[in-house]
Amino acid sequence: MIPSAVAPGRRTAGVEKYLRTALAAVMLALVAMLAAVSTATAHAVLLATDPTDGSTLGTQPGEITLRFNEPVAPVFVRVIGPDGQAVSTPDGVRVIDAVLRLSLSQKLREGGYLVSYRVVSADSHPIGGSFVFAIGTKATTPSRVSDETATRENLWQAAKVLLRLVQNIALMLAAGGALFNLLVLRAGDRVPGLVPMIIGSAVIAILAAVLGVGVQGGLLAAAPPSALFDLQTWRLGASTTVGTATLVQVPALVAVALATVTSAGALAQTVSALGALVAAASLALTGHSAAAGWPAQTALVLHTTAVAYWLGALWPLHTIVRTQSPDKAAILVRRFSTVAVPAVALLIVAGIATTLTRIADPAALIESNYGRILLLKLALVALLLAIAASNRRRVTPALAGGSEKAVAVLVRNIRAELALAGAVLAVTAVLAHTSPPHESVEHDHHEHIHEGAPGYAVVTVSRGRMLFLEATPARAGVNSLTFSLVDAEGRPLTPIELRVVLSLPAAGIEPLVRVPERIAEGRYTLVRLDLPTAGQWSVRVEALISDFEKVIFTTEVPIRQG
Ligand code: HEM
Repeated sequence: MIPSAVAPGRRTAGVEKYLRTALAAVMLALVAMLAAVSTATAHAVLLATDPTDGSTLGTQPGEITLRFNEPVAPVFVRVIGPDGQAVSTPDGVRVIDAVLRLSLSQKLREGGYLVSYRVVSADSHPIGGSFVFAIGTKATTPSRVSDETATRENLWQAAKVLLRLVQNIALMLAAGGALFNLLVLRAGDRVPGLVPMIIGSAVIAILAAVLGVGVQGGLLAAAPPSALFDLQTWRLGASTTVGTATLVQVPALVAVALATVTSAGALAQTVSALGALVAAASLALTGHSAAAGWPAQTALVLHTTAVAYWLGALWPLHTIVRTQSPDKAAILVRRFSTVAVPAVALLIVAGIATTLTRIADPAALIESNYGRILLLKLALVALLLAIAASNRRRVTPALAGGSEKAVAVLVRNIRAELALAGAVLAVTAVLAHTSPPHESVEHDHHEHIHEGAPGYAVVTVSRGRMLFLEATPARAGVNSLTFSLVDAEGRPLTPIELRVVLSLPAAGIEPLVRVPERIAEGRYTLVRLDLPTAGQWSVRVEALISDFEKVIFTTEVPIRQG
């Protein structure tokens, strides 16, 4: 028997009371967890390092120290030597209050060293950075790091995409099933397997969401897979937006499952559907939308809710068409369809709105990876829509007329829709983990003007201001970078403050912060800058134009092997 199918009169007061208590507990837990998340906002700050950033030492230091303003736990501290290999530090990192100490017991050769660190403060926020020092007078620098970090990151990233796919499929089935229960079924309607589908997929979505927190921690720390057994990894993952989204999603899915399993009454169905909405909305708390602000988040919430209604109905409809008489099935299919038409319209409008928050220039649809993946998704969606339209216009009327052939066609079509929906969700999982071209198109239009010897130059536009960046020789080792800033009228621009942040995430090199020196009106330079490793360096130039306006240019500079 299916609880959703029983008449409200068969509900018992005891079950309702139990349900209300359980749901109140879930809501309380949710509020408490959200409060815990929102108070965790303070960050640790690095106060000093020894050796100091950019220093040249006559002899090798016995140890490296990093002093923070509050106690921290190390995720990693890596020292990369002139040969690009990590210096082995068998004693590991010792922590005394707010100071990290790393012994350098073996003999170090002359040359440049880069120290890259990542720590977690008491409030579990990760912070990371890099600094450099040299031993001896010859400033030879590391030319490449071992690619172990990049390989590990790729593995974690692949695991993250896969988990997100499993999580989203299960979430759509659980949330969509709950919405189907409330909006399509009436007392007396029976759909075998609907309740197990909702509960089973809610459990899978919960497991995937929780595991996602550990995977996020592993990715951040670029740790080996065994780090999943380390509490620190989970704390690290929980301190990110993935943790926040999970804190919202898990109780919401528990509410969906509890309400579905305990009662078939109208209250339980409503609570279950509300849980479904919250769970679908929680996707907007992490990923690109979380970084893009509330308009993007609102668009994605509407998008995922409409998606859940549509996709979550496919399996129950498949069962209905196979197990019920054609005329009865046609009634339920029509009822689904009445809500599905506006839901699909909402899905498309919200999908376009979400796209606009990611891609500002239509050319980026073809020129960027993100755009091409989105086009693939749209091609699959177009096929899905074509099948849905044919079901609505041709197959459902034939079904209402009692046609057995219509039953077979509809069953086949719904199976095709299910397969296509899986493909759309797989492409979407990849899309959600691909960098959108938004920043570089809307704010920062990149135009490479010179990439050959002796260096590399790039023009970047942000908020009407222009930055010319030149890197010489753009090879691993010592480089000089010049920055020329121009305002909207083409005049040299001298900001109140200029700060440059360089990082090489693929090689695990955390942000290196530099303040360039002013050499002329609107012209700045960073001389003798050690970029120890070849790769696509991310460069972020922050120009404080006035007390109220900061313009940020972001670009990448390819640094070739030295
Ligand atoms: C059957 C149709 C569709 C399904 C099943 C679907 C599914 C989804 C899901 C589940 C997400 C959330 C991804 C996540 O955060 O993990 C999403 C995001 C998104 N969808 Fe759709 N979608 C559909 C149609 C569309 C359409 C028609 C458009 C565009 C016109 C679109 C554009 C987007 C964009 C841009 C995102 C954001 C990806 C990111 O995080 O950068 N979708 N979609």
